[in-house]
Amino acid sequence: MKKTILALDVYDFQKAEKLVKETSPYIDVYKIGPILFLQAGKEIVKMIKDNGKEVFLDLKFHDIPTTVKRSVESARELGVFSLTVHSIGGEEMLKAAASVENRPKIWAVTVLTSQITIPEEVLRRAKLTKTCGIDGVISSPLEISLIKKECGKEFNVVTPGIRLAKANDDQKRVATPETAIKEGADFIVIGRPILEAENPIEVAKNIYERTLL
Ligand code: C5P
Repeated sequence: MKKTILALDVYDFQKAEKLVKETSPYIDVYKIGPILFLQAGKEIVKMIKDNGKEVFLDLKFHDIPTTVKRSVESARELGVFSLTVHSIGGEEMLKAAASVENRPKIWAVTVLTSQITIPEEVLRRAKLTKTCGIDGVISSPLEISLIKKECGKEFNVVTPGIRLAKANDDQKRVATPETAIKEGADFIVIGRPILEAENPIEVAKNIYERTLL
């Protein structure tokens, strides 16, 4: 599976569909967050799957255990490949999410990449989620190798905060695509560097080539 996940942070179905069709040679998994899901929910999931691609549903569940468990069950019915929960939901919530049968992959958010933190805090949350049966974490590029070393190769690390060069936006803990992959990321999540590019297809291709290590 290709390692780049494109964050479809756009507001409407047509834009999302155009992006999926144009970037599909370079991307296998598309991330839907609340922005798009609230606009076009199920139709977007169907469109991505009809194009032969997978969906990462990034709604960052954080609620009481029963609600999170039922949310994971609903996501399973949608046929998504993966979804996110918040590690700060705690042990009981994480275990409830993981207990759903035949479920999508679950990745837990450690600390948002727009926030400043210390690697030890990210690692503490990664270890907690692993013991609860969660498949992996979302972490910044700066903690990938530490998590892989401590939690093992099989534990997924999915990394946003990817920038092609120095950028000036809200992401604080960043790295280039090739650095993140070299550090051991299973997937990198990229939004604005592709979405806001003059030529999104060229940038998606460039990132794909840079991650063929
Ligand atoms: O535009 P950019 O490349 O910063 O997009 C990164 C994507 O990853 C956004 O959709 C953002 O919501 C998501 N994300 C993140 N940090 C996390 C979890 C998800 O930036 N910890």
